[in-house]
Amino acid sequence: MTDSQPTAEGIFTEHHTAYRFTPEPVSDSELAHLYELAKFAPTAMNSQPLRITFVRTEEGKQRLLPLLAEGNRAKAESAPVVAILAADTDFHENLPQLLPQSPSAKDGLAADAERRAQMARNNAWLQSGAFILAVRAIGLDAGPMGGINAPAIDAEFFAGTALKAILVVNIGHVAEDGSFPRNPRLSFSEAVSLA
Ligand SMILES: Cc1cc2nc3c(=O)[nH]c(=O)nc-3n(C[C@H](O)[C@H](O)[C@H](O)COP(=O)(O)O)c2cc1C
Repeated sequence: MTDSQPTAEGIFTEHHTAYRFTPEPVSDSELAHLYELAKFAPTAMNSQPLRITFVRTEEGKQRLLPLLAEGNRAKAESAPVVAILAADTDFHENLPQLLPQSPSAKDGLAADAERRAQMARNNAWLQSGAFILAVRAIGLDAGPMGGINAPAIDAEFFAGTALKAILVVNIGHVAEDGSFPRNPRLSFSEAVSLA
């Protein structure tokens, strides 16, 4: 699934989780396009705590691969770009810019590290879902992986910062047979109730 830009339906139904990729590179402009879409995900207080590190050099891959669950290493190795998604627990510093209508928001959160950490994770996860769909929206394939040593990634990539790794996403063009069969989904009646 690749060159053409999929329809909204295609983003959800055609593209699915990719585990092996072709060597075709992902360009700088594709990465920029991806962010320009993903950034519009709504977040509480417009907090936007998601931070993204695109790992695409051989050196970067060598730093990251040992910090993934063993079963995930070959998947990441085959991807031209591996995104480390992290939550910035100091996101409140940006609130004067991002939420100018609420000048006291930053100070309230500055005094509450626990609430900040929880907000950062919740909203970065929400943004991560949009990020995965944005990858598909620009005609690429994504392989999200939660099997990571997050504290080790924090130490290797984010030392001295407030960033906390939450997810790694392999990005590229899925190889032939690079996906498992589509996994089943719950039906409307299993997942939805009407009140
Ligand atoms: C948050 C998250 C964590 C995941 N972690 C892993 C992982 O560590 N290793 C892996 O091979 N797949 C992982 N996956 C892939 C899921 O198993 C896959 O997206 C799901 O089964 C749906 O598959 P489908 O898109 O082919 O239907 C993860 C997916 C998500 C969204």
